[in-house]
Amino acid sequence: MVLNGPNLNLLGVRQPQIYGYDTLDDIGKRMATRAKTHKLVIDLRQSNIEGELVTWIQEARTTCAGIIINPAAYTHTSVAILDALLTCEFPVIELHLSNPHKREEFRHRSFTSLVAKGIIAGFGPHGYILALDAMAEMLNATAGPPAKRKVPTK
Ligand code: DQA
Repeated sequence: MVLNGPNLNLLGVRQPQIYGYDTLDDIGKRMATRAKTHKLVIDLRQSNIEGELVTWIQEARTTCAGIIINPAAYTHTSVAILDALLTCEFPVIELHLSNPHKREEFRHRSFTSLVAKGIIAGFGPHGYILALDAMAEMLNATAGPPAKRKVPTK
């Protein structure tokens, strides 16, 4: 599941000098194509509502293999999203289009990082593809020794 927090529905028009010109729909299409090469299926969602994101994380617990999440502003504020992610036993990747550490100090703190296996930040829309590749690699690695893996590792 690929979750996106508040204001990311405005990607493409929202501060494009920071977040790029691609819409979330553009990103979703590119991810879906890439996912096929990994034999994965993505379910990309966006919400401006914290509780809805919590509900989707709870749903993912039983239906998905992992979560890639850009919690947007909730990264820096949401204990509820952290708590929901803490209930998940699969890999969680935190993702940001911008590099929050290059920005205002309030963006330097991330609750999500406490549970994320890894973080991808600062690569703009391409970060979503990087996150997907990293997720595929992690899922493959947890599948066991190379002989049991679905996708060969180089
Ligand atoms: C963001 C960074 C956050 O600080 C900000 O609130 C966002 C987007 C990013 O993708 O760079 O909305 O998560």
